[in-house]
Amino acid sequence: MSAITSDGRPVGHASSNRTFPDGFRWGVATAAYQVEGAWDEDGKGQSIWDTFAHTPGKVAHGDTGDVANDHYHRYAEDIALMRSIGANAYRFSIAWPRIFPEDSGQPNKAGLDFYSCLVDELLAAGIEPFATLYHWDSPQTLQDKHGGWQSKEVSKAFGEYAGYVAERLGDRVKRYFTINEFRSFVESGYQGLNVPMPGGKTLHVAGAPGLELSDGELNQVRHHAVLGHGLAVQAIRARGPADAKVGFAENGHWAIPALDTPEYVAAAQTATREMNADFLTVMLEGHYTDGYLDRAGRDAPSFTDDELRTISSALDFTGIDVYRPHIYVQPSGEPPGYRTIPFSASHPKMHSEWHVLSPEVLYWVPRLVQSLWGTPSIYTTENGCSALDEIAEDGQVYDTDRLMFLRANLEQLQRATSKGVPVDGYFHWSAQDNLEWNWGFGSRFGLTYVDFETLERTPKLSATWFREAARRNAVV
Ligand code: FCB
Repeated sequence: MSAITSDGRPVGHASSNRTFPDGFRWGVATAAYQVEGAWDEDGKGQSIWDTFAHTPGKVAHGDTGDVANDHYHRYAEDIALMRSIGANAYRFSIAWPRIFPEDSGQPNKAGLDFYSCLVDELLAAGIEPFATLYHWDSPQTLQDKHGGWQSKEVSKAFGEYAGYVAERLGDRVKRYFTINEFRSFVESGYQGLNVPMPGGKTLHVAGAPGLELSDGELNQVRHHAVLGHGLAVQAIRARGPADAKVGFAENGHWAIPALDTPEYVAAAQTATREMNADFLTVMLEGHYTDGYLDRAGRDAPSFTDDELRTISSALDFTGIDVYRPHIYVQPSGEPPGYRTIPFSASHPKMHSEWHVLSPEVLYWVPRLVQSLWGTPSIYTTENGCSALDEIAEDGQVYDTDRLMFLRANLEQLQRATSKGVPVDGYFHWSAQDNLEWNWGFGSRFGLTYVDFETLERTPKLSATWFREAARRNAVV
């Protein structure tokens, strides 16, 4: 009798049909405000998240990013940890107010030096740097002077900053994401983000700068954000290295088919395009859909054709942050061609209150993005889950729920690659536990546990899983 695996397949075939394409990147991700700390060191200016977190009642338990993981001082130890868990790519973000603390246009050399050292350390460890230029921590000075992304001046300032970074780091950093999660920061920061939850409920999330704009004003902010992205792409191409590769990282309003039939898939495609008309669609198609402009009516943003051309500047890859579907869809004979299906009240979820569990989202989103926009290369720029991690008596962290999440999600991502969807890498959110925005330090997303009293780092069981998966380039 030949040996079989626990799920009944002959040994030897166990991982071969779960393998990712050659060259697939196994990465981990963080963001400056969530890990760096050193909030006012070496000439850094204040960011809107510094201001927001310092305002009582905005972040759980009064937690702030003042120290966070102290990554600013411990980056060498953190990179050694990444290396030990088999990561070959690191997606980090650059804090804009470290580079341009004031709106005078004067760069801060010490701020740039930090990222330069970080990049050197990564390359020495054999880890490729993937830099995100905006992960929500814009300079407070730009907020005070212009009202943040309410003004086109900030889109232009973002382009300038992006070009400067690519010029200075471009000899070693070849891959850039302009903006992380347009929808999340625009809606949570400028009006309040409404997230659909099981049982027809909605979760309301308010982030920095904590404004409550009207619908029309919000649409203009959305437009300025995508314009900032386009200006950044152009600036990176003009001032960065000739071999720079550029894209964005968006957590779209992910709509997936409730059933895998051609009619349901077509409905999900229509829904994905329409529900993301304000961000993904305009960046990848160069125009706002008629449906979007009709729905917005008098609240539609004002824009020019020239701006649309900038917004849709050619990209090298599409980054997708995928945690959950926002909605299931079914076909409909009525416009717009689909109906949304609410999550049942007992639909499973992970620890974070917003985190609906549906692993097939890792299959559908790349597939729909590819079929809609024919993007040449896709990175899963974020995926992960928070868990109630605890240090066991033997000093280890046995995050079995995260193992379940990883296996289920990566199987679906592998399914997409096996059908020819060009996914070139997976970045796990996160390298380590960190400050989870409004939820503070209580929401642990890391492969490595962090004790926020001592700042000691302990890799979790999931870090071992990740190392094995990266080593075999397969779901294990
Ligand atoms: C994403 C954010 C990231 C992190 C994860 C859990 O929306 O981009 O910073 O907080 O959620």
